[in-house]
Amino acid sequence: MSTIVSPSILSANFGNLDKDIEMVNRSAADWVHLDVMDGVFVPNISLGFPVIQAVAAKSRKPLDVHLMIVNPEKFIDRFAKLGVFMLNVHYEACPHLNKVIHEIKEKGMKAAVTLNPSTPVCVLEDVLNDVDMVLLMTVNPGFGGQKFIEHSVEKVSKLRRLIRETGSKALIEVDGGVNMETAPRLVKAGADVLVSGNTVFSSDNPEDIIFKLKQL
Ligand code: DX5
Ligand code: ZN
Repeated sequence: MSTIVSPSILSANFGNLDKDIEMVNRSAADWVHLDVMDGVFVPNISLGFPVIQAVAAKSRKPLDVHLMIVNPEKFIDRFAKLGVFMLNVHYEACPHLNKVIHEIKEKGMKAAVTLNPSTPVCVLEDVLNDVDMVLLMTVNPGFGGQKFIEHSVEKVSKLRRLIRETGSKALIEVDGGVNMETAPRLVKAGADVLVSGNTVFSSDNPEDIIFKLKQL
């Protein structure tokens, strides 16, 4: 299986979003990654339903939505109605994670659980067989263009081992500081899905970067 690439539109030009979505549509990208921030769970506010609706209408790639919000369970139904493919909720925001995962799947979406850099992968032991994907944050969530946390490579290997041991089919997605130097190391450690914002959208040739990430 080749690497799945999910460009993060947090780094796109919001003054002309159509152009960037069209670029993603033309590209080899598999999904499009949307970061929803509430200013409470993370120290930043990003985009909400009107923007997601506009992207959903234009995008030919499935939507990979990353919720960096408290009480994500409140909005599961609305994301399902927008046709979201993969809904990522943070472990740190869900005291009743098992329930939330099942609600996401009941609404017809794929369910993913996301871990902050300081949360160890061992907390996933009892949910790994219920989730479609684990998203490991490789920076502290909240902003694009941050420096990659080196320890993440080891963490991906550890999660890969845990997935094997538990017989889970969950994909491993990584998000934050993914560039042409960190991406090959993450894939080698066991990452299946690469999210990339700044590296893709600050490039003169974003389609070529997406294509190169897919070859890893
Ligand atoms: C950060 C977001 C990321 C962000 C990654 O909290 O979850 O998806 O867009 O940006 P880069 O690739 O620029 O580190
Ligand atoms: Zn993200």
